[in-house]
Order: sequence, then structure tokens, then C-alpha cells
Amino acid sequence: MNILFATSEAHPLIKTGGLADVSGSLPKAMAQLGHTVRLVMPAYQAVLEKYPEQQLLAEFSVGGAGRLLHVRVLSVQVAEVGTEVLLLDIPELFQRPGNPYLAQDGSDWWDNGERFAVFSRAVAEIAMDRAGLNWRADAVHANDWQTGLVAAFLSEETQRPKTLFTIHNMAYAGYFPKSLFDSMWMPLPWWTAEGIEYYGQISMLKAGIMYSDWVTTVSPTYAQEICTTEYAYGFAPIMQQRRAEGRLVGILNGIDTEQWNPQTDPHIEFNYSVTSGRVSQKKRNKAALLHQLGVKDVESRLTEPLIGFIGRLVTQKGVDLITQVIPELLEKHAVNFVLVGAGEEHYEDDFRALAEAYPERVFVHIGYSEPLAHQVEAGADMFLMPSRFEPCGLNQMYSLAYGTPPIVHYTGGLIDTVVNASEENVADKTATGFVFYDPTIHALRSTIEHALFLYSKPRAWQQIQKNGMSQNFDWQQSAQKYIQLFTKEI
Ligand code: ADP
Ligand code: GLC
Repeated sequence: MNILFATSEAHPLIKTGGLADVSGSLPKAMAQLGHTVRLVMPAYQAVLEKYPEQQLLAEFSVGGAGRLLHVRVLSVQVAEVGTEVLLLDIPELFQRPGNPYLAQDGSDWWDNGERFAVFSRAVAEIAMDRAGLNWRADAVHANDWQTGLVAAFLSEETQRPKTLFTIHNMAYAGYFPKSLFDSMWMPLPWWTAEGIEYYGQISMLKAGIMYSDWVTTVSPTYAQEICTTEYAYGFAPIMQQRRAEGRLVGILNGIDTEQWNPQTDPHIEFNYSVTSGRVSQKKRNKAALLHQLGVKDVESRLTEPLIGFIGRLVTQKGVDLITQVIPELLEKHAVNFVLVGAGEEHYEDDFRALAEAYPERVFVHIGYSEPLAHQVEAGADMFLMPSRFEPCGLNQMYSLAYGTPPIVHYTGGLIDTVVNASEENVADKTATGFVFYDPTIHALRSTIEHALFLYSKPRAWQQIQKNGMSQNFDWQQSAQKYIQLFTKEI
């Protein structure tokens, strides 16, 4: 089968969050099942600079907002991705510095609507073999609102490929004004409640939901949650409808076990596995991390628990819970924190303020650092993930793989991946982490205290680490589920 995988970011080309991790690893897993997969994404300036060796495969034109745009299809070699990568070079839209979605002042690019509508239209042209590639897709896998319109454009075709739309985060609906609909000459019949219209605007997320054969999301629990008003941001009725039709499926993300594997990870100093060096090497990684963070008395701090956090600093991630719980914990416990993240300015300020208030105990890195993320997973003793909602979450799986039990809120994919260290689960050796049930400081604090208590019992702790490290989160099973949907009749 020929599969076209459309995405707005992919690791290691460009990454703002977990979508990039998924895009950088799921296509490879599908290819390993014997399919021809082509990943297609915009040729952002940063990506063209990072991969200067490009091969021009084809050129064609697509309609933009009141103008015709020229598209160059470039192919680049990216060993880690393991499938062909196509970059769509449309300089008017993507030849600009920085982030895929945000201008340098942190606001959305003013023309994100046109940027991703045009990208989606170009993806549909490639899928239909009208781009000059002499290749036709049997299935198109689109991801999040940026590629939501792909299925809508393809719905106009008589002989079209199967379409599947994955929701990685329901919170981003891709709203744009009606003027975009008009200027891009979108078909008038789409402008209805059954189409892409949502309270007088376009929703590109809704386009993906309404026009795709299959709608998937990244964990079974989140698939249920987005059928409820609390999690669906107004789309609960259409999600319920898709569920009733059997066309909404939750498929748990996997992790790239080549990149996130403590046994081979090139970013960490001391490699280890569940069977070798788990305790001693992990401690040496902790020492290296503390040293890197500027701790002077590393030896004496090694016995104190080190709690890590890595993530986008947005409300979703429960950052406010973290900043409030730390001072409370530090009143009573000798524990240290390493916090890595970037995002909303007020959260960045809160993190900096904590580091200033507790220079000996709270270490903060504001910014994005892939190596540091690996070093924190390997060097920390526990990992905080108090997300208010979490479609899947990858960091808790990385933490499990690295023997760093995660402390998570009972929501979304966190429910599907972490087994709480209740007395029963500890006794029967199934516990892998710590789960709290209310997104409140009180609940988070008592769960961290429970983790600290078990940390002081090395045998129990090491068993929890071992249970987590023995989990299998590779992509194979999930990739198979996607392929089954591509081949199944609706
Ligand atoms: P989300 O996609 O909602 O941000 P995930 O847990 O699915 O959450 O994925 C987040 C990914 O982004 C992980 O690979 C994580 O390590 C990475 N990440 C987030 N913030 C940073 C940062 N500041 N530095 C390095 N990696 C980060
Ligand atoms: C989104 C979600 C996250 C998920 C990721 C990859 O960014 O917030 O939970 O893991 O997509 O699917």
C-alpha cells in the first residue's frame, strides 16, 4: 500500500511537541510492515537550512488566498525517519525564520490559515498523483488541524485514497475567518454545520473530523474523553456520532525505541538497561546531571531524590500545580527539582522565580533542549506529569523506559500507560508509577509524598523501576492498527 503521511512537524527535522516524535517514528513502523510510506511536510526555512542536500522531484501550482502559488517538491534524506521525506517548498508561506506556527514575538503567524490550507491542498494534489511524482497514495494519514483540510479536498474526488485523521490534541481547533474560505475558493457546500463551518468560522480540525473515513486519537481513554463536553470544546456531538458509527478509534502512541533507549542513548553518559547497571549507572547519570546543573556538593546530594519535569509550559501540562506544590514540599523534604520547558511567559517567569527562591534545590532551564531532555529522563529519580488533560503523552513513557517512575494525573493516555503504586499493585509487581486523581495541589502533594516514602525503600523502588522498564511501548502494534483501518471497509 502507498501511504502519504502529512504532518506539520517531524523529529529530527523540526519539533515543538509530541506530534513531531510521532511523525518521526510512526511512518517508519508502517514501512516496516511492508508499505511504501512518504512523509510530507512544509519546507520551513529552518528545515531547509538543516538539510541543505535537497533533490527537486517535481513542481506544480496550487490555489492560495486569491493567488496561485508555486510548489516545489523536494526530497531529503533523514536516516532517523526511515522513510522518504518530501518537503513542500512554497517560499511565500514557509520561507521565514523560527517556529512552524509562531512569529518571533510568540504570536501566531498572521497567515496560518492560508499557510496550512495551501499545504493541505498541495498534499491532496500529491495523493491524487497530480503533482508530477508519478505516485498515487492508497491512503492518506493526516494529523491535527494543520492538515485537517486534506480530507475535505480529497472528498471532492471520485477515485480518492482512504483518509484517516489523527487528533493529537482537541484543544487546538484551527479556527480561521470566513474570508479565508472565500479567498481560497473552497466549495460552497462545505459551508454548513455538517461541513467545516463552526459558529461563523472555519475549523480545520472539524474539517478533518467531518471528511475523513476514520478519525483516530492517540489513546483509548482520550477517545472516550473527547466524546464528553468537558474535553471536546464543543465537538462532543460529532465525536459521539463518529463513535456510534464505529469510525472513532483510540490507538495508543508508541515510542521510538531507537532514540529513547537508555541502553544506546548517545545523549547520556552512562548507558544502562533493566538487566544491567540500572542502579549504579542511573546514579552516575544523576551525578553528571547535577554537576551540569551547577550543583557543588554533588556527592552529598546524590542520596536526595531528584524530581524532573520536561514540557511545554501551557495550562494543559498542569504547570501551575508544579509551581505551587514545590514550595510546600520544600518546607518538609530534602528534595531537588530539575524543570525544563518553554512556553507561556508567565509560566516561564514562575519557573525562574522558583529557581531564584530556592537556588540550592530548584534548577530551571527555560528553552528547548533535546539532549537535556534525555539527560533528565536518565538522571532524575522521578518524573512529574500533572497534566490537566493529556491525549497520550510521551514523556511518561520515556520515563518508564528510563527507570524514572512518573507521577501523573489520572487523565487521557496517562491512564493507559501508568499503573499506580497502590499497595496491591506494588505487592503483585505491576506498579510502574504514581497516579493522583484530582488535579489539585493537595492530591499532587500527597502523591509525591507517597513516592518519596517508597523511594526510601530501595527494594520496593527498584521493583517499580524494573516493572516500568519492562513495558513494551514500541510502535509495532499501533502501526498494525493503523494499517488495519486503511484496509478495512467502512
Ligand atoms: P506534547 O506533545 O503535548 O507537548 P508529549 O509528552 O506528547 O507532549 O511530547 C512532548 C515532547 O516534547 C517530548 O519528546 C518532550 O521531551 C519534548 N519537549 C517538550 N518540551 C521540551 C523542552 N523544553 N526541551 C526538550 N524537549 C521538550
Ligand atoms: C499532543 C498531545 C500529547 C501527545 C502528542 C503526540 O501534543 O498533547 O498528549 O502525546 O500530541 O500524539
